[in-house]
Amino acid sequence: MLRIGMLTSGGDCQALNATMRGVVRGIKTLITDDFEVYGFIDGYKGLVYGNYRKMKYNDFAGILNKGGTILGTSRMPFKEIDIPTADGIDKVKAMKENYKKLKLDALVVLGGNGSQKTANRLADEGLNVVGLPKTIDNDIWGTDVTFGFQSAIDVATSYIDNIYTTAESHSRIFVIEVMGHKVGWITLYAGIAGGVDAILLPEIPYDIKKVYKTIEKNQKEGKKAIMIAVAEGAITKEVAKLPKKERKAVIANRTYPSVAYELADKIREKFDSDVRVAIPGHTQRGGSPDAYDKVLSSRLGAKAAELIRDKDFGKLVVIRNNVIDAIPLAESAGKLKMIDPDDQLVKSAKDLGICFGD
Ligand code: F6P
Repeated sequence: MLRIGMLTSGGDCQALNATMRGVVRGIKTLITDDFEVYGFIDGYKGLVYGNYRKMKYNDFAGILNKGGTILGTSRMPFKEIDIPTADGIDKVKAMKENYKKLKLDALVVLGGNGSQKTANRLADEGLNVVGLPKTIDNDIWGTDVTFGFQSAIDVATSYIDNIYTTAESHSRIFVIEVMGHKVGWITLYAGIAGGVDAILLPEIPYDIKKVYKTIEKNQKEGKKAIMIAVAEGAITKEVAKLPKKERKAVIANRTYPSVAYELADKIREKFDSDVRVAIPGHTQRGGSPDAYDKVLSSRLGAKAAELIRDKDFGKLVVIRNNVIDAIPLAESAGKLKMIDPDDQLVKSAKDLGICFGD
């Protein structure tokens, strides 16, 4: 009997269930019919407290299209991994003990950056771990794409499309805040797909005067709807220049609920137009995966099964140049895949006349 532990960790996304289904189908096809999955409830918390569901192949049927995660998820920050839980449990020790108690052959971790750092730590501690790259943010180093990313772009783009028509009718300026505190991948793609006037990203600090100029120019040219896509973590050039500690303090002490409101207020001071804020928020993580994500997550899941079959552990499944592959967890852990300001996609967007405020 093959015994597999599985958990989903961190913020959810659309293709978590599709990926787990891929793993389980892969195990059945490539390895054996004789297996059990120990699905840990609410991420690493389930592994720490030994809270799991014993699952069979059929428990993963009919979930390809279902958003969220049938296992539940939670955040357990890596930086707190060696700090005991509120009730005094040593997290790493407890996870190792539960893994051993259940006689697991492998642990499959579907998670983003922080979760994969924990996965790497558990691999170092001797557990047989396989990681799968989840996040709408697309910021996991070592993979071209993460599952959840394309579905989030689709949601954000259709949100921008819907705002566009009403912005045009009313000749309004809209500031649309897209998810991404550290990286702006969703904002970049959805901004281009939504045909916006300006894209503001954490990776490319902006000068507000450049944004004003673009608004002025586009309005003068007769454009009725002015659309600005701003990532949650976008910062101005002045803030970017501050030392890290001060920068964090400025952001933490912001009197506005979020970046979009601050930006909208600044634009309001300069223009007579009606300036509005729109925030798709968690809709970007919700609902069903799109077709691309269903294919990607199924392929990644099947590869995880292959790694388990080959006892090739301590690896993160990735996709590079449309080829599914695996890299050491240690190679990816602790690195963030950010947008390079010289990326060809940024250049293309600029060539289309989109302002980045730089
Ligand atoms: O990591 C995914 C993500 O959706 C980010 O884009 C966003 O900033 C964050 O999670 C929101 O987290 P939470 O749902 O915990 O508020």
